[in-house]
Amino acid sequence: MTGAFTIRESTAEDAPAYREMRLEALLAHPEAFGSDYAESATRPPSHWLERVSLPHGRERNNLWFAVGPDGALAGVLGVYTESMAKLRQVGTVVSVYSRPAWRRRGVADALLGQAIAWARAAGFRRLRLAVAATNVAAIRTYARAGFSVYGVEPEVISTGGVYYDELLRGRAV
Ligand SMILES: CC(C)(COP(=O)(O)OP(=O)(O)OC[C@H]1O[C@@H](n2cnc3c(N)ncnc32)[C@H](O)[C@@H]1OP(=O)(O)O)[C@@H](O)C(=O)NCCC(=O)NCCS
Repeated sequence: MTGAFTIRESTAEDAPAYREMRLEALLAHPEAFGSDYAESATRPPSHWLERVSLPHGRERNNLWFAVGPDGALAGVLGVYTESMAKLRQVGTVVSVYSRPAWRRRGVADALLGQAIAWARAAGFRRLRLAVAATNVAAIRTYARAGFSVYGVEPEVISTGGVYYDELLRGRAV
């Protein structure tokens, strides 16, 4: 893969390409995500359209894409926002994925930088995330982006007959 990528918000036109990339991620890395490939593969087009097309904002669950020079999706990151009044200052980073051909080129770093800058501007106090304790590449990426461990959730992911602990990591924004 040659050329630089750019980061942008998701739009309604991204629904089919996002579905393809998300299912690719869930199939290849079942231990890395709470969502399940088989469940997700049966979701209707309206699910994917809603996921990418709601206007970005403080009250929304937002997605950003890394996009290659040809416009194809290279990676994705979401920020899940809480609706309950007392929890609204904390955003949760979800769905982080960098396509294999784009790895080790700063895609995840750039997406995390975007999420942190956005959360700061939107008035959040903290971002948090959960990462499988065995996921070395993601742990290094999150540590580099300033997300430190505040807990461990034992055996929270179950896939292929194996239970995975998740590290809970967070940072001030
Ligand atoms: C974890 C993941 C998102 C990281 O994505 P990435 O785009 O490769 O991340 P980055 O490029 O920002 O950084 C990854 C590594 O590449 C290095 N790197 C970044 N830019 C680079 C460049 N221009 N040249 C060489 N190396 C570079 C980083 O230093 C880092 O190295 P390190 O892990 O040895 O410290 C990716 O491996 C992935 O999608 N994994 C599968 C899904 C997954 O686990 N998601 C996380 C769920 S919690």
